[in-house]
Amino acid sequence: MTYEDFYGPALTGLTKTKQQICDLISLYSSENPDHAKSVIYCCSRLKTPESMIQKLKKRGLPVNKQAALSQVYDAVGIRVVCSFAEDVYQIAAWLKNRAEFRILEEKDYIAYPKPNGYRSLHLLLQMTEGEGSGLFAEIQIRTIAIDFWAALEHQLKYKKNLPHEAMIREELKRCADEIASVDLSMQTIRDILRESSP
Ligand code: GTP
Ligand code: MG
Repeated sequence: MTYEDFYGPALTGLTKTKQQICDLISLYSSENPDHAKSVIYCCSRLKTPESMIQKLKKRGLPVNKQAALSQVYDAVGIRVVCSFAEDVYQIAAWLKNRAEFRILEEKDYIAYPKPNGYRSLHLLLQMTEGEGSGLFAEIQIRTIAIDFWAALEHQLKYKKNLPHEAMIREELKRCADEIASVDLSMQTIRDILRESSP
């Protein structure tokens, strides 16, 4: 099934929303020289019809465009990958003051990691301007070190009958905690370098 088949005329608004948010992240990087190095990369995706249908079924929702656009909030997904933990919160604070959308929910999995060790800041928002006005989107903001971890951890989702699964999960959790500790040390070193005279 194509995106057009599933999302119908809403596809334009979804695509515009995705672009609008990506443009905002570029604006963030360009408007202040201090921000320029904060964002390493930003990527975006529209949830595929297959993945959306799967999610609707899993949640017991009707499998149609209406439910996909009003009851699932991540048809539009943006991921912002930063160097340091501080950058994550600065970008989030900047996004919270934008007029283009309203933040509906903030999930701080950095302050409150998931049991598997997952750390990221998620913003759930609703567009208030543009062609996608009324549509929802999810922005995930995380450090590059955690992004590296999350990509590997994500592969577990698709593995069935994995040998030594418990041990692998435990090892991944240990890695996540070590990464968090390294992120903290890197942040501290950056702070010290900033404060020291040139
Ligand atoms: P879904 O997980 O999308 O059904 O929504 P939710 O309400 O559980 O929201 P949550 O904030 O937990 O997750 C949203 C998205 O964040 C997911 O679709 C993933 O892209 C990412 N994510 C959340 N938890 C994990 C995790 O444990 N590992 C990885 N790799 N990604 C995660
Ligand atoms: Mg989830």
